[in-house]
Amino acid sequence: MITIALPKGRIADDTLAIFRKIFDMKFEFEDRKLILSEGNFKFLYVRNQDIPAYVTNGAADIGVVGLDVLEEHRPDVLRLLDLGIGKCKICVGIKKENELDYNAARLKVATKMPNITRNFFAGKATPVKIIKLYGSIELAPLIGLADAIVDNVETGATMRQNGLKVAEVIMQSSAHLIANRNSFITKRDEILDLREKINGVI
Ligand code: PRP
Repeated sequence: MITIALPKGRIADDTLAIFRKIFDMKFEFEDRKLILSEGNFKFLYVRNQDIPAYVTNGAADIGVVGLDVLEEHRPDVLRLLDLGIGKCKICVGIKKENELDYNAARLKVATKMPNITRNFFAGKATPVKIIKLYGSIELAPLIGLADAIVDNVETGATMRQNGLKVAEVIMQSSAHLIANRNSFITKRDEILDLREKINGVI
């Protein structure tokens, strides 16, 4: 039995589609159910940022999580495979009429990714005050809560529709398959076999 933590939403759907393609089984969460048991697999439906907690603590043997979350939280897990789904960029965003001033005395930056943000601006030697938010990040510059944001950009529609632009791309992200270190020892063959099968269809 392999337990797999999937992040709620599109990436979970896309990952289950990959599993259906490989195993020709009915992998689909029922309505509001958070566990799906089918054949040799148990899938857990988890919030994206919570995936590392499930995998590092061994509640899941493997998980699917964005590279941005791995960079932000640096969990002690094994990175098995880039799934090439859930692609986005982590960007600095500002109001479209502004320029990003790395020489500012102190930039106020709103984000749900404080570590990525701190590292990026440290590299530019720009002092920042980080304002940690949990969502709707694009709102912050519009009402003067922040000078800039660091957030995921997928289509760019959210920034565009809120009068923001990308000032800098910090990193590219996509969903990665990760494994718990112990599981990779005790279930090594199963996990490697699964990785190979997934790699064959993506
Ligand atoms: C993400 C991200 C942006 C948006 C980007 O938000 O934080 O707000 O998607 O996508 P786009 O470039 O295609 O417009 P999410 O939907 O995860 O909600 P959040 O506000 O909770 O972060």
